[in-house]
Amino acid sequence: MQADDIKQEIRRLLKERNAVLLAHNYMRDEVQEIADITGDSLGLSQEAAKTDADVIVFCGVHFMAESASILSPGKTVLLPRLDAGCPMADMVTVDALLAMKEKHPGVPVVTYVNSSAAVKAVSDICCTSANAVKVVNSLPDREVIFVPDRNLGQFVAKQSDKTFHYWDGYCPTHERLKADAVARLKADNPDALFICHPECNPAVVALADHACSTSGMYDYCRKSPAKRFIIGTEAGILYKLRQENPGKEFILASPALVCPNMKLTSLEDILAALTTMAPVVKVPEEIRIPAKRALDRMIAIPR
Ligand code: 13P
Ligand code: SF4
Repeated sequence: MQADDIKQEIRRLLKERNAVLLAHNYMRDEVQEIADITGDSLGLSQEAAKTDADVIVFCGVHFMAESASILSPGKTVLLPRLDAGCPMADMVTVDALLAMKEKHPGVPVVTYVNSSAAVKAVSDICCTSANAVKVVNSLPDREVIFVPDRNLGQFVAKQSDKTFHYWDGYCPTHERLKADAVARLKADNPDALFICHPECNPAVVALADHACSTSGMYDYCRKSPAKRFIIGTEAGILYKLRQENPGKEFILASPALVCPNMKLTSLEDILAALTTMAPVVKVPEEIRIPAKRALDRMIAIPR
């Protein structure tokens, strides 16, 4: 089947099944092109919560589909590639987190949405890269346990007067971007602004003109009078950045900024998922209810 025929068949099935296609900003270009809504983790979970579709086809990684299932238990959530995981999310387990909580009794756990539903269920509140500073600073406590991303944790700690207990997790994709490579690129392109995701190493973030979530990057680059940008996040972001800013140039900070999990989902996978109505991601109620509490607390905080 040709790509255009696959796209047409996907659109037909989406209508027939009353389904909505959500795609993260890191998905392959052709997947973003066909999506009803693209966005960052926070934006997509909010869309999942408010859609009146019966079926959510989630083009992203496993924890994102779980969040959609937590927020929309009455809907069928399809994750076209069940093997699309997030290595950072896998760096924290419930047992290890409970052991850390025991070491710091009474200290709230702030959990980045890049985590399993089970870990969210034993957390006090979730955050995304778009709202992490607001979430942490909204808490009355003087200390927080921040899991699993040590880099995002350090980024937030710089904008908060609370004491942080970090988890030693990280994103292998963002961690591959090195400060010396960024410094060289900046020297070679003195007119370009360097924008990066807070999942980057703190030494990289220290070189940034602006660090923000993936959707924050779209806003920033659209509004900025600058004409050239060095981008320190996953390569998929370039698709919409270039589409929305035809007069501007975007340079990926490293060819290593490709998340293999985010690149798994193909048009063929989406078509197969819609045809067979599988694989389904469904979070069991005993995990969903406490996990939803942590997500709802986050969503209640204005963006
Ligand atoms: P955003 O929350 O900025 O969409 O990022 C999610 C993610 O997986 C980053 O690696
Ligand atoms: Fe996980 Fe990093 Fe891939 Fe995002 S880019 S899904 S944090 S491995």
